[in-house]
Amino acid sequence: MACGLRRYPAVAALINADPREILFTSCGTESNNSAIHSALVTHPEKRHVVTSAVEHSANIKFCDFLKKRGCDVTLLPVESDGTLDLHLLEKSIRPDTAIVSVMWANNETGVIFPIEEIAAICRSKGTLFHTDAVQTPGKLKIDVKDLGVDLLSLSAHKLHAPKGIGLLYVKRRTKYQPYVIGGGQERGRRGGTENVPYIVAFGRAAELTMATLQDENTRVRGLRDKLENGILSRIEGSSRNGAKEPRLPNTTNIAFAGVEAEGILLLLDHAGICASSGSACTTGSLDPSHVLLAMGCSTARARGSVRFSLGIYNTKTEVDYVLKELPAIIAKLRANNTIEEATATGQAVAQKS
Ligand SMILES: Cc1ncc(COP(=O)(O)O)c(C=O)c1O
Repeated sequence: MACGLRRYPAVAALINADPREILFTSCGTESNNSAIHSALVTHPEKRHVVTSAVEHSANIKFCDFLKKRGCDVTLLPVESDGTLDLHLLEKSIRPDTAIVSVMWANNETGVIFPIEEIAAICRSKGTLFHTDAVQTPGKLKIDVKDLGVDLLSLSAHKLHAPKGIGLLYVKRRTKYQPYVIGGGQERGRRGGTENVPYIVAFGRAAELTMATLQDENTRVRGLRDKLENGILSRIEGSSRNGAKEPRLPNTTNIAFAGVEAEGILLLLDHAGICASSGSACTTGSLDPSHVLLAMGCSTARARGSVRFSLGIYNTKTEVDYVLKELPAIIAKLRANNTIEEATATGQAVAQKS
């Protein structure tokens, strides 16, 4: 226990918080749910929540649940490049808005929202502001004081720590009510025996992550750009989803015309390459990405889009390998489609005659 508790400062240091402002949760999803839940419980007269249409399902599905229980939710739309209209955000805040919860960086496109500006808008309106910063550690410098947020979520597995531990930062003096109710753990803010080994791992990962910020923003960014530019220049009918900047240095999301991501991922997997379509957390779902649809992509484009995420363990050799394999994979899938279409048309003609 003592060893686990010593790790609060390491994790707090990652985001420049006071250790007493941190509460450990089981994951990023629980942190997001807890932030919104607390705002509604501590402000029972306020029943409105503002979030964006491109949030992780940890927000979108929780807000669906709240709507069914009588809350009003505004899902802010995004522009075609995945950016937010801050004027619209400001206009959507009402006297009965309990909380604005907007992610810092999108997990599918890497597009970054201007969190400091959003926090300032919320402050000026006297509304709580929560950000889902799950995608940012090691990629963006996180300083909760500079950001001016009231609540912030992280998930440890994005820092290469084990899955199953997250945190919620709650700014000092912010009213807070626990989501998981039980014993008085986490200073009475989350019931349940602390997962000490995972807290220790989170602390160590936080220390290591602070040292990778430079590498992510120079070498990894270079690799991501090499991959993205290489794909766009070598593969006809490919295009990026989302703004080029501001964007996380490790993410690229590419649409391939005339093919389904499912087929691409299968052939990439056979070649030993890991990528994903939509959110990795919803992989297995055949629904097109709600993020890409919210950006105005057609269903066909959303279904033909693949996200490549790089990290500190990736190398130039690996990027070169993807650039060698991928054009042939897309060409093969397109050729198969042409054969299938020709067969289908042939059959249709045969049936008519
Ligand atoms: C932006 C974002 N928010 C929330 C989550 C959920 O985190 P967890 O899987 O720890 O519940 C994820 C997971 O990938 C994410 O990318």
